[in-house]
Amino acid sequence: MVNAAMTHVPTTEAAPESTNVDPSVTAERPPPPPLPRVFAVANQKGGVGKTTTTINVGACLAELGYRTLVIDLDPQGNASTGLGVDHRGLETSMYHVIMHETPLENCVEPASIKNLFVAPASLELAGAEIELVAAFSRELRLRRAIDAVLDDYDYILIDCPPSLGLLTVNGLAAAREVMVPIQCEYYALEGLGQLLRNVDLVRRSLNPTLEVSVIVCVMYDARTKLSDQVVSEVREHFGDKVCRAVVPRTVRLSEAPSFGQPIITFDPSSRGAIAYRDVAKEVSRGATRRTR
Ligand SMILES: Nc1ncnc2c1ncn2[C@@H]1O[C@H](COP(=O)(O)OP(=O)(O)OP(=O)(O)O)[C@@H](O)[C@H]1O
Ligand SMILES: [Mg+2]
Repeated sequence: MVNAAMTHVPTTEAAPESTNVDPSVTAERPPPPPLPRVFAVANQKGGVGKTTTTINVGACLAELGYRTLVIDLDPQGNASTGLGVDHRGLETSMYHVIMHETPLENCVEPASIKNLFVAPASLELAGAEIELVAAFSRELRLRRAIDAVLDDYDYILIDCPPSLGLLTVNGLAAAREVMVPIQCEYYALEGLGQLLRNVDLVRRSLNPTLEVSVIVCVMYDARTKLSDQVVSEVREHFGDKVCRAVVPRTVRLSEAPSFGQPIITFDPSSRGAIAYRDVAKEVSRGATRRTR
């Protein structure tokens, strides 16, 4: 199981000039699963970069020409606002999809990038976590909703909330793969054991082919040895599931959502944009585009 002890003290010692792609990892990977691919972007720790990764990997996949849907499953609605969709006062949101079986396509909005679509969350979704407890087939609501639109998209990314409640379980039950952003910080791996156990539980009871297939190291700070140590430790645990590209900690990435834009339009040549483009290329490498 994952070792939680990240006890190293960060230093400000200069690390060698870093590129986004870790040169020490060169092994070829097997081809990715066929399209459409459905990812739950999950990590029950708060503020580790789930939403930033969902928005930006989604935008970069769309830029590569893949029809991509971002599903906002977090009542905070950060993925919706980060993609320019104001989730206040929405008539139809993921709440209605999960609780009232409204067809998913009824709540999908186009984002500002071609090929990119958003199914927004609203604050009401916080109530769904409780309302679902007594609901029939409560874990499979999202999966059924997604099944009906699968043919319309190449990639579906589900931005999960920072908990392991019923909304996240719906995300895990609906996905085929799990993408886990890991912050290059103290205790990065702490609590990950719990996520992996839950993925295992969902696999055994609801979704037999679910697997954690992509790990993205985010908020990498080249000035600290700790960042490198975390990346090495993550690679030791997860091997070639870990993206070679690491996402740097940059102010531009944290500014983009308040302008309702992914980094590739907010600041297309920034380090964050380059890193997320690399991640999207890695995720989709070898995928055969579908004809429509
Ligand atoms: N690479 C980065 N560099 C700088 N800031 C970042 C980076 N990635 C994310 N952030 C910022 O860190 C904060 C947390 O990121 P984000 O919202 O993506 O995490 P989260 O895991 O979705 O959080 P929550 O658990 O609350 O849903 C945000 O303010 C975001 O803008
Ligand atoms: Mg989030």
